[in-house]
Amino acid sequence: MSQRKILVTSALPYANGGIHLGHIMEAIQADIWVRLQKMRGHQCIYVCADDAHGTAIMLSARSQGISPEELIDRVQREHERDYAGFRIGFDNFHSTHSAENRELAESIYLALEANGHIARRNIRQLFDPEKKLFLADRYITGTCPRCGAEEQYGDNCEVCGSTYSPAELINPKSALSGATPVEKESEHFFFTVPAFSGMLREWIDGGAVHGAVANKLEEWLGEGLQDWDISRDAPYFGFEIPGNPGKYFYVWLDAPIGYMASFLNLCRRSHDESLDFDAWWRPGGDSELYHFIGKDIVNFHTFFWPAMLASAGYRAPNAVFVHGFVTVDGTKMSKSRGTFINASTYLNHLNPEYLRYYLAAKLGPGIDDLDLNLEDFVQRVNADLVGKLVNIASRCAGFIGKNFAGVLADQLDNAALIDEIRQAAPQIAELYEQREYGKAIRLVMAFADKANQYLNERKPWEIAKADRQSPELRAICTTGINAFRLLAGYLKPVLPALAEKTEEFLAIAPLAWSDFDSLLLDHRINRFQPLMTRIEAKAVEAMVEESRQSWNGGHDTELEADGETQAGAGATEPFADEIDIAAFAKVDLRVARVIEAGLVEGADKLLRLRLDLGREADGAAIERTVFAGIRSAYSPEELDGRLVVVVANLKPRKMKFGVSEGMVLAAGPGGGDIWLLHPDSGAKPGMRIS
Ligand code: MSP
Ligand code: ZN
Repeated sequence: MSQRKILVTSALPYANGGIHLGHIMEAIQADIWVRLQKMRGHQCIYVCADDAHGTAIMLSARSQGISPEELIDRVQREHERDYAGFRIGFDNFHSTHSAENRELAESIYLALEANGHIARRNIRQLFDPEKKLFLADRYITGTCPRCGAEEQYGDNCEVCGSTYSPAELINPKSALSGATPVEKESEHFFFTVPAFSGMLREWIDGGAVHGAVANKLEEWLGEGLQDWDISRDAPYFGFEIPGNPGKYFYVWLDAPIGYMASFLNLCRRSHDESLDFDAWWRPGGDSELYHFIGKDIVNFHTFFWPAMLASAGYRAPNAVFVHGFVTVDGTKMSKSRGTFINASTYLNHLNPEYLRYYLAAKLGPGIDDLDLNLEDFVQRVNADLVGKLVNIASRCAGFIGKNFAGVLADQLDNAALIDEIRQAAPQIAELYEQREYGKAIRLVMAFADKANQYLNERKPWEIAKADRQSPELRAICTTGINAFRLLAGYLKPVLPALAEKTEEFLAIAPLAWSDFDSLLLDHRINRFQPLMTRIEAKAVEAMVEESRQSWNGGHDTELEADGETQAGAGATEPFADEIDIAAFAKVDLRVARVIEAGLVEGADKLLRLRLDLGREADGAAIERTVFAGIRSAYSPEELDGRLVVVVANLKPRKMKFGVSEGMVLAAGPGGGDIWLLHPDSGAKPGMRIS
């Protein structure tokens, strides 16, 4: 097999927040793949960097009273330490705020411009007159122009689900200063992505992305691409656009260029002549390029990035590998529940290999979310790694050490078993290559079961009772040790630390994939040391508790996270902050009957409902008018006489269309799927819900 030249990246984490388990999962997925390639003798280079630019980082530095440079330096050190803690084997970890990245971003931009792929247009945007900066949608809140719900973000309403432009918000406020934004015009630079539709379609059809992602991209291509706004006005933390003072590259323009910059930095520092930047990045070379990313940043990597590379005369990626999101105990990581777990918090309590193993055992090539179920985590790691894998070694090592001076027999007791395990090597490599880590691990664990079964049947401990130095005993334990060597070797991409300890214990050179052809016979091994200990459930509890404490008072907002990306498609909605029972008890929930339902002119999501909430003590009827954003699911006729749940003590809100005296509760994703109380529930208007 000829040696491949492979360049691998994982997404660049934003430099204003810690590394959390989501980042770590992505890095583990990439790292396993890279380690497999290296074990197979390929030249595989894994680079990453911090994504250091953008408004969020500028504001975060400001609020901490430090310069952005100070902030990103400190964060980069923390990031590198956290990744190293999980044994992510980057060949280089750089920053987008670097000389190499400036050089490349400028030259790529100038190429796009020279090729006629940059357009300029004036756009109108909301501007914060106090902070003196243009406000991205997420930095604006106001009243929804469709349903009147207050405190909604600049581009969509969480209450009625409608989308709009921030200029349409009623009473808009800057989330940064509280000031009322003003509309202001300025010139922006656009990358003409539609010019690359043909090229992108070919690239996607050529297998650069797989399955569900490919289908989604085809759909988007069918709908037509749009020019991409790549400039931001000062003040901005980033690179100024050459020849255009006061205009900066949008963070997402220079972020993927950061992959190249990290590699260029490595080339310049390295004495290895094979690390030649152009040979790896210009078309026609023999190297391969792969990006590991999450599903929330697909369009940047599959439309804008390949198009930029093409325009600037660089090669396209061979593939973009997209993964889903990490959830903890079935829901999105949550600060209030202590399941928004930072890498460093995990490392304070648990061995990184536990998580590498657990995530790998659940990883496949698709974009399904991946759940870290904390109970299952403890159980699975203990059962598989300690109970099965390490158990093989610990059952055999003592006899070899004490009874045979540490020297293995020169033949096996069960060559068929070892042959069977050895012959699986190509299949396991192929599963890793296809990112079918879960399947690879199931196969390895099935062999671990077989090896244990074999030891159960041969009972070396009984043979030892009869004859300490029996050659049969020695051959059985040698078989066990050989099985263990192969299985720990197969798991080396996943469990590098266990593999190292194994190499030390067996007194062998670092295992490469080609070593699985050979056996370990008539060889002196070292004294057995426990290779891995069990996870204590208490350690997991302590980790969750530390997490909860560290986010004490924290909010699960997108704003502080990074702000520059949309929420992931299909991600569970974040839960709101916890409220105590006293706060909840203040909410007066009542059953009501719809007396009359009507359309609202000028609001295509809303219905006006006249509600019967029963009677006062003196017999007077209680009626309310409420505007509800349920028109997509119900016609007024259908609602006549329907029972609904209302928040009866919500302060009346003045809306464009009248006063809303309460709120109707319903559940569902929206569109045609919004559910009210069941018509035959037997509830009566006025009943209190508790
Ligand atoms: N800075 C951009 C990426 C630029 S790449 C040229 C960014 N940063 S991020 O810090 O928000 O996310 C980095 C990576 O972590 C992304 O691939 C993202 O999908 C991934 N994840 C962030 N949260 C995640 C989970 N909860 N689960 C799995 N991966 C997630 O986007
Ligand atoms: Zn609304």
